[in-house]
This record gives sequence, structure tokens and C-alpha cells, in this order.
Amino acid sequence: MKKQIIAMALATSLLSFDGSAKERYKDPQVPVKDRVEDLIGRMTLEEKVGQMNQFVGIEHIKANSASMTEDELKNNTANAFYPGVTVKDVERWTEQGLIGSFLHVLTIEEANYLQSLAMKSRLKIPIIFGIDAIHGNANAPDNTVYPTNIGLACSFDTDMAYKIARQTAKEMRAMNMHWTFNPNVEVARDPRWGRVGETFGEDPYLVTQMGVESVKGYQGGLNGSEDVLACIKHFVGGSQPINGTNGSPTDLSERTIREVFFPPFKAGVEAGALSLMTAHNELNGIPCHSNEWLMQDVLRGEWKFPGFVVSDWMDIEHIHDLHATAENLKEAFYQSIDAGMDMHMHGVHWNEMVVELVKEGRLSEERIDESVRRILDVKFRLGLFEQPFADEQKSMQIRLSDEHRATALEAARNSIVLLKNDGVLPLDASKYKRVLVTGINADDMNVLGDWSAVQKEENVSTILRGLRQIAPGTQFDFVDQGWDPRNMDPQKVAEAATRAKDADLNIVVAGEYMMRFRWHDRTDGEDTDRSDIDLVGLQNELIEKVAASGKPTILILVNGRPLGVEWAAEHLPAIIEAWAPGMYAGQAVAEILYGKVNPTAKLAVTIPRSVGQTQMIYNHKPSQYFHPYAVKPSTPLWPFGHGLSYTTYKYSDLQLSANEIAKDGTVNVSVKITNTGKHDGVEIAQLYLRDTFSSVTRPVKELKDFARVSLKAGETKEVVFKITPDKLGFYDKKMNWIVEPGEFVVMVGASSEDGALLKGTFMVKK
Ligand code: BGC
Repeated sequence: MKKQIIAMALATSLLSFDGSAKERYKDPQVPVKDRVEDLIGRMTLEEKVGQMNQFVGIEHIKANSASMTEDELKNNTANAFYPGVTVKDVERWTEQGLIGSFLHVLTIEEANYLQSLAMKSRLKIPIIFGIDAIHGNANAPDNTVYPTNIGLACSFDTDMAYKIARQTAKEMRAMNMHWTFNPNVEVARDPRWGRVGETFGEDPYLVTQMGVESVKGYQGGLNGSEDVLACIKHFVGGSQPINGTNGSPTDLSERTIREVFFPPFKAGVEAGALSLMTAHNELNGIPCHSNEWLMQDVLRGEWKFPGFVVSDWMDIEHIHDLHATAENLKEAFYQSIDAGMDMHMHGVHWNEMVVELVKEGRLSEERIDESVRRILDVKFRLGLFEQPFADEQKSMQIRLSDEHRATALEAARNSIVLLKNDGVLPLDASKYKRVLVTGINADDMNVLGDWSAVQKEENVSTILRGLRQIAPGTQFDFVDQGWDPRNMDPQKVAEAATRAKDADLNIVVAGEYMMRFRWHDRTDGEDTDRSDIDLVGLQNELIEKVAASGKPTILILVNGRPLGVEWAAEHLPAIIEAWAPGMYAGQAVAEILYGKVNPTAKLAVTIPRSVGQTQMIYNHKPSQYFHPYAVKPSTPLWPFGHGLSYTTYKYSDLQLSANEIAKDGTVNVSVKITNTGKHDGVEIAQLYLRDTFSSVTRPVKELKDFARVSLKAGETKEVVFKITPDKLGFYDKKMNWIVEPGEFVVMVGASSEDGALLKGTFMVKK
């Protein structure tokens, strides 16, 4: 043994003597691939397994171990600590190079501190810090907060998705954070599910476009100090959970998985995303975290994904303690790694048990090397070895910059959907001098949405603040209903009803409560699913009583999931779906109310009338409403693609470049759009396709393209869409991707509703 050590020491000193062979992994001139191999060659098994493990940050541990019980720990997916483990232990493991990544580190100081510990380790492998920067790096304080994903999707603005991701990456790197757990590219198909707001909606094509631009924006070239790693998540199917609850089983045909849920992930891989997160749920009986078909056959086999797979929060543990397909934790780790998992989110036992699995011969060290290679590859590309720290002095020069704020404001303006307007909007300030403002979301930071921390007051434009800023001559009377929809005060509701009589106009700001810091009090957001989609608490009563004043009453909704506001839709003159517009919510909403901004957004998700209509999607199959519902309509409150403006648009002259094409041919579709109203505007034109007869059933229509067209009042523009073969195909009876001959219907217009669409047809030749 002694001899061996002496020989090793000698070899090392010989190597160090030769400068070129010495620690090649530290040399930025050496190609990444070679740096990875050099480093892996120096690592112990324990260090390798440590690179595959993640921990929550030490401040997070301190806070939660003080406030949380071990029982709560079991099903809380926002907070964590490790019973029996001290902060000192975590610090020591970091110094020993046994932790590859941290999440939920929320300050630059903590990130730099933990990194300084990693820099004391034998090989000085930097930590990669991951964070849920879902709409800006909002989970950490003092960052730009953009609209949540569902709002962003309603802008149909893919350039904006890119820009926001790019700016978010810069703010993240300015905090020494390198990896965002976004974009969420799940296709949302159930409004009860609390995570609809963090998705880009229900349409596979739109989700794909937004997801791809987000990946590109975050990652840039994935080689600069302003780039971060994107993570496409959650793979897969959790957005159509049984009964709508987060993480509940999904049971989906392979056809639906491939046609609806896979496309945004496949496109994300093609766009270069180098990390992917598996989903909480089981899929057709197999937990996603031990699903070889997903991770190996599809992701790596079919799509050639070169990046690494990270587990979701304690979901490898759940293979054992929830899904019960592994008898113990060690077996769960084994199943997951064997199925293709690379990194564990998060915590203890992993290191020791995975090392044992290798020593016992159940997992090979080569298998471990595969994962470590993928993780190190990203760390090298991101330049972490050269730049492990961020500059605390310069951090705030980048975060919340004027440029980023301007983007957040523009994005908010473009994300707010005008659902209904009988003509009361835009508001005439000279007519409505006294305005009552009330509702749980009227003056609350909740406009920041899920995945946002509490931000400084001065950085949040609440709706009331926005109104006062934009209409300074108007008297706004505010009746505070508190933030908590579950515990509204009937007396406050009565007070609003009384004061409404003295006002010229009423604005009720209702919706859901989403802020994470009140985890158990929320009504919307992650792990906050509902068995109905009505307004919670006394909110309906408030709306009805205020409207009973006889004064025009406008409803503004702040929420993530669609809400079935049937009564309001029928009785109120105007309704705005604001979603969670972020830090400039109030200003953007007020600008729209007062006509300073002409609304442009269109729904990225159908708004059903009630929960009974679930699943209510526009791209359903032909037989869906052959027998319509009795008593109530089978149509939604508002369809996908719907959104009003203060101007009007006319579509005309739909023309196709060909009546007949070959299977690999293309058709250009042109249409004229005229702004026939009095305001300048931006129209989101949508193109849908239907395969008239097909060997397997196909949706009644599917979005295949869209364009944001800016038109001055009176102006006409021609828009040209290109239909390429990939937009015509589907999976046949044998699950082969084909384009079938026959007729296709092209529909172009202002929403997915039939009445809003011009139609034409073309044939695909045999
Ligand atoms: C969520 C993930 C998230 C992770 C880390 C989980 O509960 O499902 O989307 O990235 O927590 O915060």
C-alpha cells in the first residue's frame, strides 16, 4: 500500500513537471471534451457521485429547519431541510467536493460563499447553481419580474420570449446563478391544475415556439459569462393529470404523447437545451423518474439528447415512498440511474448509496462516468472553472436595469387579454371622475405571480398604484378586501357595495392568490390545484353586489389558471384577463383601461365555463361534441386565440399558391388584413389546418402558424404563411409519421372560433 502511494506521488510530480500534461482540465485552451476526460480521470468514485447530487442552499436549510416540521417536509415541494444534517455538514461536504450543485440559493453572497468552499476542494470543481427563474429571476430579490409564462404566451411574441430569457440570463449570472429550471414546455390541458400559469398554454405549436426561443435566449452560445443553462421540463404528461392534481398519475396513449406532449421537448432538444427535468407523475404505470422508455429510448435514442437529466424535487425518493415500485431508497436510486437519470434533486443518502451500488457491481463506474461527463461538460462550457464567482459590486448594475425594466413593461402590455368590451373601454376620464377600486388583487404584490419572491414595494406597480399613476385626475376610492380570498370579510364586501353607488364606475380586481411565501394560503400555483375553477370565497358576491349599484363595473382577473367567470361574462360590460403581469402590472393594466395602450394579446388557453367542461381544448377530435351537453352550452366562455382590441380588423383575399402539392411540397397562404377601426394596433393572425379525411382521427383544427402584424388605423397588409410538410403529418395506425394524400382545409383569422376564420383548401397528391 505504502509503495503504491509513493509511486502515485512520484507519477503526479512527474506529470506536474511537464507543464503541458499538468491538470489539462484547468486550461481553457484545451477543448472541452478533453478537459472533461482529464478531470474524470482524476476523480474518485465518491467525487463523481457527488457531482450527480444537488442540495438546497444553507440559508434555505437554516430557515426551514427552524420553521418546518419533519411531517411537513414529506409533501412540501418548496421548502426543505435535512433532518439530522447541520449546515456545517453541508459546508464540509462542499469543501470535500461531494456536492455538484445547489438550488434555492437566493443571494449572490451565499452563492459566492458556497463557491468559495468548493474552491477549497481537492479538484476545485465549481458548483452549478440552479434556480427557478421562470419569469425573470423573480424567486430571488431585486430582479426584474416579467409576466408569467401564460401571459407571455398570450402575446404570441416569440422575440419577446427570447429577449426576456436573454435578460434573465444576464441577471442570473450577475448573481452567480447558472442554470434556470425553465422553460416549462408542458402542454396545459386541465384548468384545475395549479401550474397552468407557468406554462405557455394548451397548444403544442405555440408552446414549442415559445419554448425554443426561451432556450435560445437563456443559453446564448452557452459559452459566455452571460449565458445560463436552460432546463426543459417536466418530462412528461403531468399537465394532463388525472383529476387535475399536481403529480397525480397520467394515463395517455402513445399517440397523444407523441402528437401533443413530445413536440415542445423534441424542439427544445433541437434548440440545444442541455438539461431536462423529469416529471413528478407516473406515465401509464411507470414513474417518469424510472422510465427507461422516456430517458433512454426517446430522449437519447430517438432525439440524441447530449445533455443531462435532473430529477424533480425528491422524485427519485418517491419511486419508493410514493409510487412504491422500489422496495427501498437504494433500489429507487438504482432504478432511476439505470433508466437514465444523471442528477439528483436533492439531498442526503444519494452519495453513500450510489457509491455502494457501484461497489456492489449493480451499477458500473462507466455508467456513473456517463452522467458526470454530461454535467462537467456544461460546467466547462459555462466558463465556471475560469469564473467561479460573480462580482458583488457590479451585480446591481445589471439587475433591474432600465433596459430590463422597459422590457418587463412592454411584455406586460402585450400579455393582457381584453376578453369582453361592450364599449365602456377605453375609459373616458372626463366621464368617470370617481372610480371605486376593490377586490383581493387591487393593491397586492400578487400581480407578480407564482415563482416570485416578495420584492421591494417600490419595484411593484400594483393595480391601484398603476391607476393613480395613469389617471392622476381621477378620484380612486379604494375598499381593501385583503389579499386572502378564503378569508374575505363580509362587511368589507358590503362596504364596497355601498360605496359603489357613489362612484361613476367600479373596478373589481379578482382572481387567485399565488405568492409562494404564503405557501398554504394560496389558491393557484404549484401544488395548488382545485376541484373547481370558480372564484374563491366571497369574490363572486363582491362582483355581483358592486354591479348591483347600476354603475358600470369592470372585472380584472389576476390568476394563472383559467377561471370560469360565467356570471361576470354575462352581466359585466368589460372583462380583462391580466394573468400575473409582473412588476409593471398596474401600469400596464391602467394604460389599457385608459386607452393609452391598445390591447393585443390573445388567449393561449381556452377559458371554460365551468370545471365540468374539462377537458376543454380547441384542438379536440371531431366527435367531441357530437352529443352536446344538456342544459348548458358545450362552447367555452372564450376560445383559444380570442382577444379583443380597441380597433377592428378585417381579413380578406385568402389565397393559396397551389391547389395541389406533392407530399413533400409547400403551399404559401396569403391573406390581407385591414385595420378598419380608429386606433393603431397589432393583430395576432392565426393559421389553422385540418386534414379533412385521415386514416386515424385528427383534431378539428390545429394551429400551425401565427404572426403579430402591426397596422396603423386604415392600413392594410398582406401576410404570407408557409405550409411545409412537417405541418401536415401525423402518426398513422402503425405509429409511423406520414403525410397522407387528400384534402386539407386552411383557416386563417383572429381566433380559433370558426366564425373568425377564412377558409380555403388544397390537395396533397397520391
Ligand atoms: C418543481 C420544479 C422545480 C423544483 C425546484 C419542484 O417542486 O416541480 O418545477 O424546478 O421544485 O424548485
